[in-house]
Parts: sequence; C-alpha cells; structure tokens
Amino acid sequence: MTRAERICQFEQTPTLRGVDLLSLEVRKAGGHATGSAARPRNCTQLPRGAKSARTVPDVITRERRESAMLVKIGPGMKSDDVVDLLLACHERIRSFTALARAAGDRSDVSASEVADACSRVERYFTEALPLHVRDEEDSLFPRLHGLSPEVDEALLAMKEQHAAHEEVLGVLLRVLSEVRRNPSGVELRAELALAAERLDRAFAEHLVLEETVIFPAVRQFVAPAAQAAMKDELRARRGPKTFT
Ligand SMILES: [Fe+2]
Ligand SMILES: [Fe+2]
Repeated sequence: MTRAERICQFEQTPTLRGVDLLSLEVRKAGGHATGSAARPRNCTQLPRGAKSARTVPDVITRERRESAMLVKIGPGMKSDDVVDLLLACHERIRSFTALARAAGDRSDVSASEVADACSRVERYFTEALPLHVRDEEDSLFPRLHGLSPEVDEALLAMKEQHAAHEEVLGVLLRVLSEVRRNPSGVELRAELALAAERLDRAFAEHLVLEETVIFPAVRQFVAPAAQAAMKDELRARRGPKTFT
C-alpha cells in the first residue's frame, strides 16, 4: 500500500469499533456531530464584525461559535468544492481529537482497542494533519492574502496558530506512543485524556476562525478557476483516491 493510499484509508475510516466509541464520546462532550450528515451546508458569507481576527477571543464570540455549530450540523450537501474538502478535513481533526480523548478516559474498552485507537490517532496527526496545514498555507494563503484587511489578519492568526499547535501536538503524540505500548497504564491514559483535551481547546478557536472568516472568503474572493486549481493541489498532495 502506498503512502497516499494509507492516508486515504484512515482519513476516510477513522475507526472500526471506534466509530461507535467516537460518536459516543463526541456526544458526551457536547461537541460536533460527525459523518456526512454533519457537513456544513452553507458557508458563503463573511461574518459581520470580524475586524481583528488575530485577537481570536475577541473575534470568535460565543454567538459565532454557536452559529458555526449550527451550520455544521445542518443537512449534508452534495457538492465537494475546495471549501467542502477543507471542512471535511476539519471534521476529521475533531473526530481524531475526540478519539484520542476517548482512548484516554473510556473505561469500557479493551487494552487492544485503546492501543488501536492510539495508533490511528498517531497516524492521522503525523501524516494527514500536516497535509491540511499545507493546504491552508500553500494553496489557500497565497490566493487570499492581500484581498481584504480582515481576512489578512485572520490569515496571519491562522499561521501563528499552526505554529503554536506543534508543541501541543508533540505532547499528544508522545503520550499516544506511550499508551499504545502500555494501553493498560491508568496514569498514562489519564495523561492522554488531558493532552487530548488541551489539543481540543487549541483547535477549537482555530477551526472556527477558519470556518467563519477564511473559508467563506475563498468562496467570496477566489475565482472559480482558482478554486478548482486549489482543489487539484489538495488532491495531488494525497494521491488520486483521497476525497473520493
Ligand atoms: Fe488551520
Ligand atoms: Fe484548517
């Protein structure tokens, strides 16, 4: 199996029994729905009042977070333009973060299931997430930068947050590796749950910033041909089977 096929395989199917484990965990956390029914239907308008995207807590208000969640749990959509693909990546980020947390704090799963979940999460965050970051920094950023002051500010915040995520992700990956090798370790699993919770917090504002300011700007400012070129770049990073 090629690297692209591996990425495709686990991006499309986060877990086996873990799907059940995962959906329970997401619901318990009051978080985001998963699967095709959770995909955003419409994300075409720039939000009002997004004047200072770099001060994320000021920009991402509770109203906007709730609005984004409502969008995300709307009926599934049939199109798969470049923004849809990016949003689908976000669903997977949330899903694998929730899976990491479940691997840390669920008491009704076997050691082998915990080890398997750790392995899947490790692969996702070491192989797939970096591709999503490249999508945003190499395909999206250059096409959007310079078109709108408020979007420029959000783009800079996005890149700063990507850099900041590396430390949090590094901690999670270290703990995942330890739990995978010792899935019955109670203290290690508690450490994993905490690391996943920390990553979840780090991603929360970041994903909403992208979904409410940056991704809508793609549809608003980027010409259809350029959007199609972005989509081709996303596919090329992963191989022909991904996103199909
Ligand atoms: Fe990002
Ligand atoms: Fe993103």
